[in-house]
Amino acid sequence: MGKDNLFALFSQVREVGFFCNIYQNLPDLPLRLPADTPHEPHRLPMHGFILLEFEKFVIKEHGFATWNTISKKANAESLSIDATQIYPDSIVFTLVGEAIKELDVEPGAFLERFGYALVPNLLKVYKAYIDPTWKTIDLLEHTENTMHHAVRTNNPDVTPPILEIKRKGPRSIHIHYRSKRNIPQLGVGVIKGIADHYGELHKLHVHLTNTEEEGVYLIDVALVS
Ligand code: HEM
Repeated sequence: MGKDNLFALFSQVREVGFFCNIYQNLPDLPLRLPADTPHEPHRLPMHGFILLEFEKFVIKEHGFATWNTISKKANAESLSIDATQIYPDSIVFTLVGEAIKELDVEPGAFLERFGYALVPNLLKVYKAYIDPTWKTIDLLEHTENTMHHAVRTNNPDVTPPILEIKRKGPRSIHIHYRSKRNIPQLGVGVIKGIADHYGELHKLHVHLTNTEEEGVYLIDVALVS
């Protein structure tokens, strides 16, 4: 799956009527898309929390003026973002696409930085679901049956990725990421942010590969001394 299909996916953003191509410069990973996406608008419901965090991330790293430029280019400057509401994810993708163009950054690395930046507030909001004895690998092991499960239960409309998680040993884990959104790099950033939270980032090895199946990626995580 190459740039063209990714282009098709991200260019079919209709809500804000903008034509964008966030994957002009593809990361090394050979990304794949579900077969239907080139003909379907990318329009899954998504948590306003993520949209709000994206705004905060851009403002923190690049300032208000840059955010204003990006949101204007995405025709979203009058959008008022409420963390408790649900938005079509195409709004997020359009803003991300505009940010990538405006900032001239590599898309995969940018998504990863955004994922990393999400972690402190994700951990705050979902604190009740996190066992205080957990560290990086334990929290990853329980993400799907606790945090992502809570996300789905609290709001059946939203669609976090499905993570199939297998503990491989005390310090290693395999995560199969499955989502029509095809943004596993965001997950890699989340994993790095979680390891940083537990003071284990310097020991963390993360390796992302695609699989035979469309939209499914393997994230291999290990802590090494
Ligand atoms: C404290 C742990 C976590 C919490 C509380 C959390 C929560 C969330 C929430 C609220 C969303 C938005 C869902 C939506 O609106 O559809 C989301 C999306 C996402 N999560 Fe998590 N998450 C956690 C850990 C992880 C981990 C370990 C990964 C690693 C793969 C991950 C990968 C993602 C990705 C990539 C998305 C974007 C949507 C997509 O790809 O389809 N999350 N998560």
